[in-house]
Formats: sequence, C-alpha cells, structure tokens
Amino acid sequence: MAELQVAELSKDLQAAIAGLEKKEGLTDAGVVIRVGDGVAWVHGLKQAGYSEVLEIDTKAGVVEAFALNLMEDEIGAVILGDDSKVAAGDTVRLKGTILEVPVGEELLGRVVDPLGRPLDGGPAIKAKNRGPIEREAIGVMGRKHVHEPMMTGIVAIDAMFPIGRGQRELIIGDRQTGKTAIAVDTMINQAREKTGVINIYVAVGQKLSKIAGLVERLKQEGVMEQTIVVATGPSDPASLLYLAPYAGTAMGEYFRDKGGHALMIYDDLTKHAVAYRQMSLLLRRPPGREAFPGDVFYLHSRLLERSAKLSDELGAGSLTALPIIETQAGDISAYIPTNVISITDGQIFMETDLFYQGIRPAISAGLSVSRVGGDAQTKAVKSVSGHLKLGLSQFRELASFAQFGSDLDADTKAQIERGQRLTELLKQPQYQPMSIWEQVASVFAVSEGLFDGVPADKIKDAQAALLTKLWTDHKAEMRELNKGAEKVEKDSASAKIIAKAAKAAAKGFES
Ligand SMILES: Nc1ncnc2c1ncn2[C@@H]1O[C@H](COP(=O)(O)OP(=O)(O)OP(=O)(O)O)[C@@H](O)[C@H]1O
Ligand SMILES: [Mg+2]
Repeated sequence: MAELQVAELSKDLQAAIAGLEKKEGLTDAGVVIRVGDGVAWVHGLKQAGYSEVLEIDTKAGVVEAFALNLMEDEIGAVILGDDSKVAAGDTVRLKGTILEVPVGEELLGRVVDPLGRPLDGGPAIKAKNRGPIEREAIGVMGRKHVHEPMMTGIVAIDAMFPIGRGQRELIIGDRQTGKTAIAVDTMINQAREKTGVINIYVAVGQKLSKIAGLVERLKQEGVMEQTIVVATGPSDPASLLYLAPYAGTAMGEYFRDKGGHALMIYDDLTKHAVAYRQMSLLLRRPPGREAFPGDVFYLHSRLLERSAKLSDELGAGSLTALPIIETQAGDISAYIPTNVISITDGQIFMETDLFYQGIRPAISAGLSVSRVGGDAQTKAVKSVSGHLKLGLSQFRELASFAQFGSDLDADTKAQIERGQRLTELLKQPQYQPMSIWEQVASVFAVSEGLFDGVPADKIKDAQAALLTKLWTDHKAEMRELNKGAEKVEKDSASAKIIAKAAKAAAKGFES
C-alpha cells in the first residue's frame, strides 16, 4: 500500500523520500508530500504520536507543526506557523515532545496566544515552567468531593445554583443573553473578595476589539493581576482556536497542582467545536452528525475532565470550569449543547425572553441546575435560600395562569406578589458582584416577608437602603457574617439585626 502511494508521487519527491530513507530511515523523520490550508501531509515518521510536535525544515527555517491524523502511510499535521513557508519535499523530524506552553506566575496579567506568545505588546514571557497542552485527567483516587465555594457574586447563582471549586458548570444560552457577563462578574468577584483564585479567560475566535474591551475592564476592576487571558481572533487559523482551551487549561493546572485554585472560562466551546470541525474536514476525517467528526464528544470531555478538586495527598488544589455554549433559538438539544451538558456538573441556562423583559441576569430558575455545588454553598447563604428556587419557579407558573383570570384567592395572590419581589431582588447590574453578607441580608428580607409592604418596583431601592443601613450601623457584625460560616435563622443575633434594619428600610417605600 505504502509503495503504491509513493509510486504516485513526483520524481523529486520519490528521490527525497529515498534519500531520507537511506540516510536516517523513516521512523523519526519524514518528507512533506502535500501542503495546504495549514495542513502538511507527511510520508514517514512512523514513530509519531498524537499531538507530538514536528519540526519541518523549510528553506526559510524551521516551522513547527503537530501530528493529528495518524494513518498507515501518511500523517496529517497541523502547521503552527506560516504555512506558506512549507513546501513538498521538506524534511520533517520528531521534536520528541508533545506540545507544551509556558505556564506559571510570569503569565499573570498578560494576554497571550495559545502558544504563550504575548499579544499585549509586552515583553516575551520568560516562564520557568512549561505544561503539556494535552494531559491525562486525574483519576478518581486523586480527587476529593467538591466542598469549597466558588462564589460568583451573582445572587441568583450563589443562592440557587451554588458552584464549588473543582466543579464544571456550563453557561448556556442564545447569543447576547449575558453569558460572558456572568463569567466576567465571577472573575471580578474573586478579586473583590480576595479569594486568591486565579482567573484564566480563554477567548475562542472572538473579535479582538471585544477582547481588548474586556481586558481594559478587568484592569479597571483590579482583576488583571490575578488573570491570564488566552486570546484567539476570528481570523486566526482553526488550529490555534482548537488549541486555545487546552493551552489555557495547562496554565490553570500549574496553579491547581501547587495547591492553589484556578477558574477556567472557555468563551466559547461552540466556536471551539466549529474550529475543530473545520480542522477535521481539512484533515479529511469522515464527517458525522452536523458534519462534526465522530470524536467531537471526546474533544470536550477530555478538556473538562481536567477540572477537578484534588485530594489532600495531591495538595488539595482545584480547577473550576465555566465553559460557555451558544444555542440557536434556545435549543439545548442540538448536538454540541447536549454533549457538553452531559459532560458538566450542571448548567446556568440564560433565557432570551427574560433578558428582553429586563430580568437580568436572565437566569432560568426552571432549567438551570447545579448537581454538585450543594455541599460547597456557604452556610450563611444556604440558611436563607432554601425555598428560593421552588418559590421562583412556582411563581412563574402561577403568573402565567394569573394572566387569564382576575379572581385569585388571597394565598395565590400573596405568592405571586412574593415572587414578583423576588424576581426584582435577583436583578443585578453587570460588574456589581455582591458579598456574602449583602446576599444574605437581601434574600432574608424578601423571603421572610419583611419587604411585603414594598411595591415590586421599589424593591431595589429598599434593598439598597437596607444594605447601607447595615453597613453603617453594624459593620463588625456584617464582616463576621461575610465569612459565611454562620447560619442566619429566625432568632439568631444576625437575623434580628437584619430584620430590624429591613423593617426600617421598608418604611421609606411602603405605599
Ligand atoms: N446583568 C446585566 N444587567 C444589564 N445588562 C447586562 C447584564 N448582563 C449582560 N448585560 C448586557 O447584555 C449584553 C450582552 O451581554 P454579554 O456580552 O455578556 O452576552 P453574551 O451572551 O456573552 O453575548 P454573545 O453571544 O455576543 O457572546 C451586553 O451589552 C451586556 O452589557
Ligand atoms: Mg459572550
């Protein structure tokens, strides 16, 4: 078979192959036989493994590539540099490593491409350490259950769908529904609450102006010092878009493995899957459902498996993932969304309707879920938000019925009104993550009925008055409450303080 293929090649190529075979054999070396669309097809290199780095000796110097399609008589390799330099007949050698990126503290505050090259105009990155782009996930014995909070600062999430360190929580919704905003606020919250969590934001094929705007904002908010941005734009080759999430993960694993905590944001995996489809078609892999190659599930499962809460023996570090997926017309049953839903530990579902009704963040109470974060929720928040989710979904149901009739019994009416207040309360502007004490006091005030006299459209004002009052009069107690360890129950000291302040705050707004 191999003989036949070689026989079809031009005389020059045949000579090049024969020469190389004689000189060093075709085990660790090979010859480029075709090149195009960023892909080099190589004859030889029998030893090459998946994702191994190849060095192509071109007339203009060495160009790196990595092996992806390993077939019997040829290898499809994705070129990492300028593919116009590569020509048929060039010699290719195994570099002897799999693809690695610089990792470590040196990257903090920087914007880099998936190979760790700076994109922010700053100096080259001189990292002491490097991490492999592809790495096997840690096994069950090396893990521990998720039990520490990863607070987003967004009340609707922290109260109803708590996320823990080491968890993988998907943010899913149509375009322009506030998906990125959730991730960005979570990053900001890490800085405000001084959690020490390192943020790694991976932009997959995003407009460079959008990324620049985000970086500017992160700088303003004082978050950039604990953040690494791995950026790829829409005009970058598909291979770079494909590598971006893995490269970012290698950077996050560095912190995880030395006992630290890192938060991965993949924005977004829909574009990542599309880049992989493009690369696969160029590599002539057989297309399957929606033209994605058959292993597209594995593309994201092996990525997200690397997020974990490590066991004490391994240093108890963690890597949390917030992958983002864009849906079309809210269809979560499409191929890529269902895959990623099944890989993650829950999802925050953003509803377009809510977004346009002005209910922002537009988090669906019915379709969102967090499967593992319950144990990680801070005691304080947990103690006040037990009935929140049910109350809110019941309210949305009742509210839709209530449109049809005006004769509602007092109970139903009260429930609807409470739901309206709750909905108002959970509205939260961008870039304003809330501390634990603020979340606890706000939720307590509404769910205990202390704001029942306040009209729905005045709830945000009453909330602001409550928080100002508490911070002015009870700073020490609120600082203590902010540690999150204390349950706020009916007759506890904090409950009394909050109740008193809430009643006073409500007075100013009752009609
Ligand atoms: N909580 C919020 N309150 C008010 N406005 C918000 C809120 N969250 C997001 N927005 C606004 O909604 C718009 C869309 O937000 P964002 O870019 O986060 O959405 P997205 O789903 O990531 O969009 P895309 O699909 O383009 O990536 C932005 O203009 C943003 O400022
Ligand atoms: Mg976005």
